[in-house]
Amino acid sequence: MAIRNLRYGDDEILRKKAREIEEIDDKIKTLAEDMMDTMHKYDGVGLAGPQVGILKRIIVIDLGEENTQYILINPIIKKQKGEQIVDEGCLSFPNQYGKVKRPKTIVVEALDINGKKVRIEGKDLLAQALSHEIDHLNGEVFVNKVEEGTLENISDKELEERRKQK
Ligand code: NI
Repeated sequence: MAIRNLRYGDDEILRKKAREIEEIDDKIKTLAEDMMDTMHKYDGVGLAGPQVGILKRIIVIDLGEENTQYILINPIIKKQKGEQIVDEGCLSFPNQYGKVKRPKTIVVEALDINGKKVRIEGKDLLAQALSHEIDHLNGEVFVNKVEEGTLENISDKELEERRKQK
């Protein structure tokens, strides 16, 4: 288990497009495990390569329920439908929250950690998470997508309080 350093806020790497992964070798497998550990450590539901300084097309998601853990390599959005306005945050912007428009349902194709092609049909929170994490691979961050006037800045102290309530 290894926790990677997160990249935050204005870090340029968060605005760059990530590259396709050509081979799922041991380095990628270790990266995937570390990303999962890092996401869990910081109580996130998703994390993308660039957020740990790796400009590669890999995302991890864990919605905290059974069978909601995903490691996806080279994910592609095949379909998205409807919309939902959701309260959103991001591990790279720990003090900011805002309302973002996301698809209500989404279909994503990707490779799993064994290189097998997978197709995921997500709705609600899973659709939001997939949309948010795939945005990261394209250098897009949620703070640029928030509905006008809804971006909240939260102090470290308030953040601590919210964590305790959970
Ligand atoms: Ni994020």
